[in-house]
Amino acid sequence: MSIVKINVLTVPAEQREVLEERFGARKGFVESADGFEWFELLRPLEGTDRYLVYTRWRDEESFQAWMNGPMKEAHQRGKGDDSGGTAAESTDGGAERPRPAATGSEVWSFEVVQQAPPKK
Ligand code: HEM
Repeated sequence: MSIVKINVLTVPAEQREVLEERFGARKGFVESADGFEWFELLRPLEGTDRYLVYTRWRDEESFQAWMNGPMKEAHQRGKGDDSGGTAAESTDGGAERPRPAATGSEVWSFEVVQQAPPKK
C-alpha cells in the first residue's frame, strides 16, 4: 500500500498568512511526479500549532525520486526567472531564498495499513 510523508512545519502566528500565500502560489509540480497520490496543506485548529504538509505516495522510491529532484524546484521561489539552472548546487533552497515562513520542520513517515472511501 501507499506511504504517507508529512512535513511538519512550525509557523509563528504572524507568519501563517505568508505560509498559506506561498502554498497558494505553489507551482504545482508535485502533481506531476511519478507515484504521487495526494497533497493537503493542513492548518491547525486545536491540539497543535504546527502546519502539516500531507503527501501520499505509491512507494518510498517515488517519494525519494521527488525529494532528490523536483522537490528542490518546487521549493524555489522569489528569484524570478531561474533559467540559470542552478538546481545542482541547491540543497534545500539555500541562502538565496526569501526568509522561510516556517521556523522549523521535520518529516514524519507512515505506511498506510488500512483505508476506506465513504459508502455511496
Ligand atoms: C525545509 C523544510 C521545508 C519548508 C520550510 C517547506 C515549506 C514549503 C513552502 C513555503 C511551500 C510553498 C511553495 C514555496 O513557496 O516554496 C512548500 C511546498 C511544498 N512542500 Fe515544502 N517545505 C519544506 C520541505 C518539504 C518536505 C521535506 C516535503 C515532503 C513531505 C515538502 C512538501 C511540499 C510539497 C508537496 C509542496 C508543494 C510543491 C508543489 O506544488 O509542487 N516540503 N513547502
